Amino acid sequence: MTALYPGYFVSFEGIDGAGKSTHIPAFCQLMRELHPSLEVVETREPGGTSLGEKLRSLLLDAPMNLETEALLMFAARREHIAQVIEPALLAGKIVISDRFTDASFAYQGGGRGLSLDKLNGLERWVQGREDGVLLQPNLTILFDLPGVVAQERRSKVRAPDKFEKMDLAFFEKVRQEYLRRAKADPQRFHVVDATQTPEVIWQDLQSLNISMP
Ligand code: TYD
Repeated sequence: MTALYPGYFVSFEGIDGAGKSTHIPAFCQLMRELHPSLEVVETREPGGTSLGEKLRSLLLDAPMNLETEALLMFAARREHIAQVIEPALLAGKIVISDRFTDASFAYQGGGRGLSLDKLNGLERWVQGREDGVLLQPNLTILFDLPGVVAQERRSKVRAPDKFEKMDLAFFEKVRQEYLRRAKADPQRFHVVDATQTPEVIWQDLQSLNISMP
């Protein structure tokens, strides 16, 4: 397929406590070293813009209706694409985002039960370009591990936000939806066994072949 943009878009995904936050800064640094002439934009969802960060604090704190939650996630994403992601990709930059749309399918869909139809509709609305093609990451790195291991890790490091307070059954559903999506699109996904040590995971990330369009 012809590349949509001169830039390159990487998203990191996984259930809370999978360890992606440990690796994202090092991965951004690696990209800077491997592609010294290119700018690397590090960002996150929900968030990435000033409006998006305001929506993030609401989303991570306030209990809300499931559809409201999905709409706000995608509203933040629309702003993120318009202000940050698409301009950067058009300018040939490397964009690295801590989460993107797979998280909505996994958390609001798999975890909370929002229909795939509604999520697909929101995705088309928010990521659809004028030519009808969807803006998607070139590469999605999925940190996969059992919910119980992630829960154990989370309990050691921080006070839980709204999502992190959900029970094990919720995180197992989120995990299964991530894995289902990875299986359906093996070209885009790289699945990391996040039960491995950070050193082994880092070796794996370093061996990824990021070829710019
Ligand atoms: P996370 O990315 O884990 O950040 P931190 O490490 O600071 O906690 O937190 C974002 C939370 O938002 C996470 O629990 C997943 C959730 N989320 C959704 O439910 N849907 C989405 O579309 C996105 C982007 C995130």
